[in-house]
Amino acid sequence: MTQDARVIVALDFDNVEQANQLVEQLEPSACKLKVGKEMFTLFGPEFVKSLINKGFDVFLDLKFHDIPNTVAKACKAAAEMGVWMVNVHASGGAEMMRKAKQAIESSSHPQTKLIAVTVLTSMDQDQLNDVVPGVTPAEQVAKLAALTSDSGLDGVVCSAKEAVMLRESLPESFLLVTPGIRPAGADVGDQKRVMTPVDAIEAGVSYLVMGRPITQADDPLAALQAVNQSLA
Ligand code: C5P
Repeated sequence: MTQDARVIVALDFDNVEQANQLVEQLEPSACKLKVGKEMFTLFGPEFVKSLINKGFDVFLDLKFHDIPNTVAKACKAAAEMGVWMVNVHASGGAEMMRKAKQAIESSSHPQTKLIAVTVLTSMDQDQLNDVVPGVTPAEQVAKLAALTSDSGLDGVVCSAKEAVMLRESLPESFLLVTPGIRPAGADVGDQKRVMTPVDAIEAGVSYLVMGRPITQADDPLAALQAVNQSLA
């Protein structure tokens, strides 16, 4: 069991009983939990608070993107809910990110971490060209990750492949949070580029977001512990 759990289990359920049934099988010392737009829209702050009350660190993955004042207030509200981590889109710009960070620091839970999404991994070169012509996804990721770091945020969400590149230029304390993680031999599902937990940590990733390999396992705690042991 790791002291600061490296695995963030993604709770992607449309049913609160199913989610709670899974959570009952997990342990706060073995993992953190991620609540995204679907579960938050369905079940709201009460669900998030119930997870926090069970002792879990919660990553509220709502990817805020709006004018600085609005995002700052949303981030402050998230921090005051008691979440461990919240995120914004880096493409909202430096002022939006700085104000969001300041708002968290002035909240009753100033230790809440703030990270940013650079380029959604669902965006390929063609799609990115429609939005930001003339740059490759890797260039855009590097540019927005540097802007995130310069704006005082704690880290970024990125693919494990991008982690190798970002670790070269960003401070060691800058958090890299990475989905698309599959233990060797696990079902890849709809993920296109996957990496094993061990390879991701070796690439410089700080936290691993894992959904189905744990949530759909016959024994979720055993699956989680196997990942933790591989990292020990
Ligand atoms: O089940 P799986 O391990 O693929 O779940 C990964 C989680 O990470 C899901 O909640 C998914 O929405 C999220 N995610 C992702 N790729 C991104 C950003 C978030 O898979 N680029």
